[in-house]
Amino acid sequence: MRSFAGRDILSLKEFERNEFFHVFDVAAKMEPIARYRKNVDMLKEKTLVTAFYQPSTRTRLAHEAAMHRLGGHVTGFSDAKMTRAGDFYQESIKDTVKMLEFYGDVIVMRHFQQGAPHEAARWASVPIINGGDGWGEHPTQILTDLYTVLREKGRIDGLKWLAVGDMRMRTMHSLGYALSQFDCPVTFVSPPEMSLTEDFKAELKQYSVNFREVDHVEQAIADADVILVEPVVQPDYTKSRDERGKEVSLTPANYQITRDLLFNKAKSDAILLHSLPRMDEIPSDVDITKWSRYWQEAFNGVVMRMTLLAMVLGAME
Ligand code: CP
Repeated sequence: MRSFAGRDILSLKEFERNEFFHVFDVAAKMEPIARYRKNVDMLKEKTLVTAFYQPSTRTRLAHEAAMHRLGGHVTGFSDAKMTRAGDFYQESIKDTVKMLEFYGDVIVMRHFQQGAPHEAARWASVPIINGGDGWGEHPTQILTDLYTVLREKGRIDGLKWLAVGDMRMRTMHSLGYALSQFDCPVTFVSPPEMSLTEDFKAELKQYSVNFREVDHVEQAIADADVILVEPVVQPDYTKSRDERGKEVSLTPANYQITRDLLFNKAKSDAILLHSLPRMDEIPSDVDITKWSRYWQEAFNGVVMRMTLLAMVLGAME
């Protein structure tokens, strides 16, 4: 297996099956640090640089919390408008990371342009972690989700997935690539204008992903072991920032996971994931049902970022 030390985490296309399981093994070792709210000194000589060109609550703060848990330091920006990349100069990715690499030992980047973290990785001498790039990918989120499935269900192979939302989303791309390494049939449900692109479908076929598309969650929920939901009412991820207008539409029933639907149609032991933030696709009265696992998923988001930081910085093999 390739070492993770010094490696960029840009895409789950690059991940092999044994690498997924290796990451999950390391995550299980790291988990007690977060669970018991400890701070250790594993990365005490390392600094994380956060380069967030788009808003984030979870991805940026989970990486920062992870670095603090491991005794490391954090610097960076969460509002590119206050940097030279966001003002008159429109400083390039290259010029920006040629600075950032001197300010820390690993960079986590979120950007509205697909491929921006890959461009950063071309020029940086330190590892780049993709925190979400336009419609591209969100690898650390899907690693978190798969780890959550493993912890909650005890296995990944053999589970049937239902993925609901906008199939142009970066999480859906990372999910598709990840599932190519497991025995997991997946059913996608999305509005027609947000369906799988022809290019992505061709890739899924090339990677032998067992997938189908249906119109309504009711057509697939009864078989699902893992229900992963993303919004269909959402901002444009190719913009640096998309303010909410006065009116936003409601999520149609086809793409909503309600308490009634779960009680009447879902498997008793299915689990429900959402990377958050949400609109109304999972109403809040679902939170206290036995199916919801999104708060565990959020906790695992810190564990997974601790794991990846420790591995790319060579503190865990
Ligand atoms: N799940 C996720 O990526 O959340 P943020 O946009 O808050 O980082």
